[in-house]
Amino acid sequence: MNLVDAHTQRLAGILGLAPVLPVVVLRDAAQAVQAARALVAGGIPAIEVTLRTAAALDAVRAIAAEVEGAVVGVGTVLDPRQLDQALRAGARFAVSPGATPNLIAAARQHALPWLPGAATASECMALREQGYSLIKFFPAEAAGGVDALKSFAGPLPQLGFCATGGIGAGNAAGYLALPNVRAVGGSWLTPAAALEAGDFARIEALARAAACSRRVTPPADAPPPAPCRQAPSAPRSTSAQGSAPPGPAPDSSAG
Ligand code: 3PG
Repeated sequence: MNLVDAHTQRLAGILGLAPVLPVVVLRDAAQAVQAARALVAGGIPAIEVTLRTAAALDAVRAIAAEVEGAVVGVGTVLDPRQLDQALRAGARFAVSPGATPNLIAAARQHALPWLPGAATASECMALREQGYSLIKFFPAEAAGGVDALKSFAGPLPQLGFCATGGIGAGNAAGYLALPNVRAVGGSWLTPAAALEAGDFARIEALARAAACSRRVTPPADAPPPAPCRQAPSAPRSTSAQGSAPPGPAPDSSAG
């Protein structure tokens, strides 16, 4: 097995630990251990710490050293140097919002499993050519959301996705119901206000709710979805199958 395939297998295992991969922005490394413990206690072991703050690598180091049960990775990896820094800090995986030829070339030979990002069919195809079959779909909501991922499943059935960007408790279930979605990512489990206030009980509660969300695969004998959306003006006594109601979907924990 080549290195990219081996890494893809490891990433699949990591994304399989829980339905949600929290995207954590830590301004103070001192918050890291308690925040990570709260996530793990809530049933969310894999944690993506974004490299968007000066404290990020110290936070990764602290979580890797001190939080039993956590699988810490880094996010917002934009260049190969950050892969090296992340590995040295104890990260077990790395995530990027997109992919560049430079980063792909480095990641293909790097010891750290890498989840590259893509938002279009062409970007997914370019990654597939390089051996990547697990992709962060980002920015999920802005790039077409659930409908886009449903569309990718036809021509690109080999690809699995971690959908991230604009996802929260209200719409996670819609993504997790898709067969090509392995997990969703998002920052909603660690709100900045909760981190600043040291409200780790809130983070644990959010994690617990997220850990309970589950994939909903329709039964094989379920009727196919309606081929087109109903016009808004069409009088219907019940909501049409296949048409998304406006506003947030039911809480992910219900799914
Ligand atoms: C990311 O880096 O993956 C995104 O910023 C997370 O998006 P969200 O804040 O909308 O969850």
